[in-house]
Amino acid sequence: MSDQLIIFDTTLRDGEQSPGASMTKDEKLRIARQLERLKVDVIEAGFAASSNGDFDCVQSIASIIKDSTICSLARANDRDIARAAEALKPANRARIHTFIATSPLHMEKKLRMSPDEVFEQAKLSVRFARNLVGDVEFSPEDGYRSDPDFLCRVIEAVIAEGATTINVPDTVGYAVPELYGQFILNLRERIPNSDKAIWSVHCHNDLGMAVANSLAGVKIGGARQVECTINGLGERAGNCSLEEVVMAVKTRRDYFGLDVNIDAQHIVAASRLVSQTTGFVVQPNKAVVGANAFAHASGIHQDGVLKARDTYEIMRAEDVGWSANKIVLGKLSGRNAFKQRLQELGVVMDSESEINAAFTRFKDLADRKSEIFDEDILALVHMEGAEA
Ligand code: KIV
Ligand code: ZN
Repeated sequence: MSDQLIIFDTTLRDGEQSPGASMTKDEKLRIARQLERLKVDVIEAGFAASSNGDFDCVQSIASIIKDSTICSLARANDRDIARAAEALKPANRARIHTFIATSPLHMEKKLRMSPDEVFEQAKLSVRFARNLVGDVEFSPEDGYRSDPDFLCRVIEAVIAEGATTINVPDTVGYAVPELYGQFILNLRERIPNSDKAIWSVHCHNDLGMAVANSLAGVKIGGARQVECTINGLGERAGNCSLEEVVMAVKTRRDYFGLDVNIDAQHIVAASRLVSQTTGFVVQPNKAVVGANAFAHASGIHQDGVLKARDTYEIMRAEDVGWSANKIVLGKLSGRNAFKQRLQELGVVMDSESEINAAFTRFKDLADRKSEIFDEDILALVHMEGAEA
């Protein structure tokens, strides 16, 4: 099995399904360029058949992005698939991603189709798509809540029709890591032609487990593609977050043993771009891209990282595109962090007793003010006439 993990970004498709996150064509093109800079393997650029505007976006992205595979979503019908193929014509590498729901609930209540009808539709759609492009992904929507026997039957048939990627969505974020990983493994073991396709995970975050489930799908299930979005943007509670999954695999290479193409230095810029474009603020304590992800406020931690960064940092802020880690001065800070900040600000103090006096004033101020800025420090050192 390959030790390369394919990163499939769906910020522009599933991410845009987040209420209030719709993007203009120019905004989508800007994000697509940033995804290419990140070296995302596959960009799901939209759902070409859903509107003329989305068709235009997929076509434009397919024209300008040359280093990533460009994908369009399509329901499992000839019209959608033909529209996707048309929009993808300018792409260097094109993928059609076709889907149909396979869970009893979705088939009966939403599609109003019998399992046999869904089976036929899935097969015919993949066959039709394979006549148009060489790279076809199939998703059984609500796959995780589907009957495994039926799912095996559908997946075996679509692989026989030429599907090159099989994606198993946890559409409603119902999975838990171990069970989802086992679910994928079970399918792979039961389906005779399973090794003819790359297996993919697509997890929603309704119970806050999208990243954990995706990683379990990779580690336990043997999936080699993760579908994700920048900042975990997506419908309801969102999708699996690209930055978290990528940094987990990079930071814990000892455990996952996988390579990813992503150039992590562009992660923070991508996060900011998506946040500014959609107006979805990134929470400060969000892993990797939150403002506090590399900030240290307690004196003990500050002292630790000033002596050796890996005491409290498992990855480098600079590796994901921050200019540096952050020592936040406040009432929990110690003398060491204060002294370091004086040096960074170019403040020269003649003696240790002068530093001690300034540190005492700093602590007094910190008891009254939650965060101390550089301006506060300069003001308090000048109170005693120190040189700057
Ligand atoms: O969540 C989902 O099931 C999807 C499919 C269309 C892949 O987004
Ligand atoms: Zn989805």
